Amino acid sequence: MLKVEGIETWYGAIQALKGVTLDVKSGEIVALLGANGAGKSTTIMTITGILKPLKGSIRFLDQDITGMEAEDIAEIGIACVPEGRRIFPGLTVLDNLMLGATPRKRASRGEIKNDLDRVFAIFPQLADFSGRLGWQLSGGQLQMLAIGRGLMSGSKILLLDEPSLGLAPVLVQEVFRVIKEINKTGTTILLVEQNARMALLIANRGFVLETGRVMLSDTAANLLANEEMKAHYLGAHTHIKEARQRRRDERAGA
Ligand SMILES: Nc1ncnc2c1ncn2[C@@H]1O[C@H](COP(=O)(O)OP(=O)(O)OP(=O)(O)O)[C@@H](O)[C@H]1O
Ligand SMILES: [Mg+2]
Repeated sequence: MLKVEGIETWYGAIQALKGVTLDVKSGEIVALLGANGAGKSTTIMTITGILKPLKGSIRFLDQDITGMEAEDIAEIGIACVPEGRRIFPGLTVLDNLMLGATPRKRASRGEIKNDLDRVFAIFPQLADFSGRLGWQLSGGQLQMLAIGRGLMSGSKILLLDEPSLGLAPVLVQEVFRVIKEINKTGTTILLVEQNARMALLIANRGFVLETGRVMLSDTAANLLANEEMKAHYLGAHTHIKEARQRRRDERAGA
């Protein structure tokens, strides 16, 4: 479904991706793992067209999308929930969700209503809070809203950048359960996570990035059993970013 080959992406003079190759098949959950600064978000942003690769190619459903504009990529069916749950704090939950449907220029009202019902079935809380404003939600509710908005695009593939970041353990569990459910109901998923163990427990396959390169790729089961993975990625880590996101949520009134 998605085939990324040898992409090299730069930030000015800094080369963040040094030839990343990965693929996602229809129906899969694929985990994209790696330490802070490895290039996970850069990979996501290059696939969605926010960043342009200097080399390499990206194909989606047999169409070459390399260098296409982000807007057009969203329209052909790649949705993204970026790092840091960026929703509109001054808009209601419902308005935030409906904004997710913006790339669907040709969808009927019925189709959009169906997807809204699907989002409310997956996240019953969002239905209860549909009239609340974004800034009135907790960190966990914001993340649910961000994922729900991604689903409203009706896309075949959803790219999630660290959906569990900064959430309390019980909510982390909930987010992973929901990702699994979204996948079961027909959406293919590329999942970026620092929480490697949890990601691999729901994923089919995984790719591990180190300083802009794929160092390891295998089935999720093999990665979970891999000694190198156990030593470097599968321990219980507390991340600085994690604490930072929690503070942001607190400041936002969560
Ligand atoms: N706007 C930017 N300008 C310059 N360099 C950047 C910029 N954004 C990221 N980088 C660099 O590119 C590399 C990859 O960053 P990226 O954000 O993709 O990492 P990541 O794997 O998502 O990390 P994290 O787990 O911390 O989110 C890092 O070395 C980072 O310092
Ligand atoms: Mg990142």
